[in-house]
Amino acid sequence: MLARLSIKNYWCINKRIFARIVNHANTEAYMRTNRGANMDLLIGGGLAAFTIYAATKWQKSDKDKIQRTFRNLNYKVKDREPKHFKTHKTDQYTLYSYHVPYGLVDDDKLNVLEKVLNKPVKIIFAKTKLHIKVYKQMLPTKVDYDWPDTEGWTLPIGTSLDGPVIHDFDKIPHMTIAGMTRQGKTVLLKLIMAHLINNHPDDVEFYVIDLKGGLEFSQHNYKQIRSIASNTLDAFNLLDSLSDEIERDMAFFKSKGYTNVLNTNIKKRKFIIVDEGAELVPHKYMDKDEKLDIDYCQYALSNIARVAGALGYRLIFATQYPTADTLPRQIKQNADAKISFRLPTEVASRVALDEQGAETLNNVGRAIYRTADKHVIQVPYVTDSDIKRRFSDYVSPAEKTTERRTDTVIFG
Ligand SMILES: Nc1ncnc2c1ncn2[C@@H]1O[C@H](COP(=O)(O)OP(=O)(O)OP(=O)(O)O)[C@@H](O)[C@H]1O
Ligand SMILES: [Mg+2]
Repeated sequence: MLARLSIKNYWCINKRIFARIVNHANTEAYMRTNRGANMDLLIGGGLAAFTIYAATKWQKSDKDKIQRTFRNLNYKVKDREPKHFKTHKTDQYTLYSYHVPYGLVDDDKLNVLEKVLNKPVKIIFAKTKLHIKVYKQMLPTKVDYDWPDTEGWTLPIGTSLDGPVIHDFDKIPHMTIAGMTRQGKTVLLKLIMAHLINNHPDDVEFYVIDLKGGLEFSQHNYKQIRSIASNTLDAFNLLDSLSDEIERDMAFFKSKGYTNVLNTNIKKRKFIIVDEGAELVPHKYMDKDEKLDIDYCQYALSNIARVAGALGYRLIFATQYPTADTLPRQIKQNADAKISFRLPTEVASRVALDEQGAETLNNVGRAIYRTADKHVIQVPYVTDSDIKRRFSDYVSPAEKTTERRTDTVIFG
């Protein structure tokens, strides 16, 4: 049947392979009798392309195409291929489940299924079972933020093929955000800020270190944004002052016998946002004092990540260039939510997420959100003008400066 494929179209894939295949009425028979060198050639080069091409032309069900792909990719042990045992359909996807013969393991070559079926596919390998989830629709390339009300300190951080993905800042206090320029880091930081101000106008406080000159955040001067630092000296002062506050809170918690803000009636949450952590790395043109300030900032941020989560502080640390220097170890280790937009290399993806993948993201606002689970999400888009319109009542009369306010926060 494959021999009946249009010769004209197939020339562009691999003339030599085609010439041999058309001489065989049955491709499977051909495959059986020509293993070895031909097989290597086929799998290494033309067969993947041929599999994709043939399957898209082949008017069969997705289930048939999957089974044929197993065969073409030689995905089996001895003569035993994965054996289909269940199909489950929902409005969003169809799940095909297979028993896998002993000794057959998860294999990246199955990723070709996405192209074969021309639909988003998720491959889930669980012990001796293989589940292939075939989605009906692609992930949208843009999702507008629609100001939802949510429970507690949660936030709809993105839309995945399986529906909304919710982040809970009370379950996972700290977060790192990585991604190349213009991919959506600052928009995500503003989304977090906007959502939390909208849902907790009286209980949320933000301390922002915006080291790109303060351009992004100083236009949002709401009472909930307690301080914005736009250079390293401001950042030093802000973090120094926060460190004192953390010590006071710690003493207060001890005096009350509290171990975690979640078990108290304290409603306040304080978010420390760093937009462009790479600016907090010393370089050779800095003078000694500035280097010391920066060292202190890194220490203070690491300390927040390490000890202040239980007191109600939440750290969100964004950087364009995830490396061991720009993403301090203590921060990375204590941030159990890691988000990455597109990154230039697999190595950068491993630094940001502990795994590859961010280098393959191909849409602005598209990210991998990694906690104990992993989701590919489209982050909702919120604009500066939407935020300003929504929060005009909260605009602070005094223009924001880099000085901290003197308000004393009383717990309890
Ligand atoms: N979630 C999103 N959905 C759609 N478009 C987005 C989204 N996030 C960002 N964009 C678009 O991309 C532009 C750049 O986004 P943003 O400023 O957040 O990038 P960035 O990652 O902070 O870049 P840089 O590292 O240079 O600061 C935005 O002005 C907007 O047009
Ligand atoms: Mg930015």
